[in-house]
Amino acid sequence: MLVAPSILSANFGKLDSEIKAICDAECDFVHIDVMDGHFVPNLTIGPVVVDAVKKVATKPLDIHLMVENNTFFVELFSHIKPKFLSFHIEEEKHPHRLIQKIKSYGIGAGIVLNPHTKVDEIEYLLEDLDLVLLMSVNPGFGGQSFISSVLEKSQKLKELIVKRNSKALIEVDGGVNDKNIKALKNAGVDIVVAGNYVFSANSYKDAINSLRV
Ligand code: DX5
Ligand code: ZN
Repeated sequence: MLVAPSILSANFGKLDSEIKAICDAECDFVHIDVMDGHFVPNLTIGPVVVDAVKKVATKPLDIHLMVENNTFFVELFSHIKPKFLSFHIEEEKHPHRLIQKIKSYGIGAGIVLNPHTKVDEIEYLLEDLDLVLLMSVNPGFGGQSFISSVLEKSQKLKELIVKRNSKALIEVDGGVNDKNIKALKNAGVDIVVAGNYVFSANSYKDAINSLRV
């Protein structure tokens, strides 16, 4: 299992050392939640802060957009060259076009599905995608409870990925901890995002290792 700590739960007063700490603890990606106060009822960080994160991070960035105007934000973050840049399918009229735009920057393209969104929605996009991010909480905040229906969704998605001969990875975001990690592994998940679980631990390394099932 690959592990992407979400810096939403980090201490933003010492963001520099928090980023260094999770990278030293051998996380696989640094997950960054970009919220615009419209698509979700919360507001986080823009490219100025993400540029600063990139300077200290020794692991690739995984940017999760929770915004209304996806194209504007994709352009705004394109120079940062994260490993993955993902947008919500619920907010995009032209997902195929936006995937191509993300890939034209040399960035891995990801689509995010809210807890209620069916995986069938994205079947015909799978061959173009590098990542599918399944939300296991309603987006907007860290520290919420895991919605277990994501397990069945992940299994269905895995079948579709095989059927469409796609290379897309499955990532799950929200409420991940050492109690649900085995079920996530069994459901075919490749990457987990963990905010509160990692950043509230005494040892980031132990927390990350406990998710490596
Ligand atoms: C929620 C964010 C998540 C969040 C996860 O909208 O997308 O990345 O930070 O935090 P935890 O692991 O605390 O649920
Ligand atoms: Zn996220």
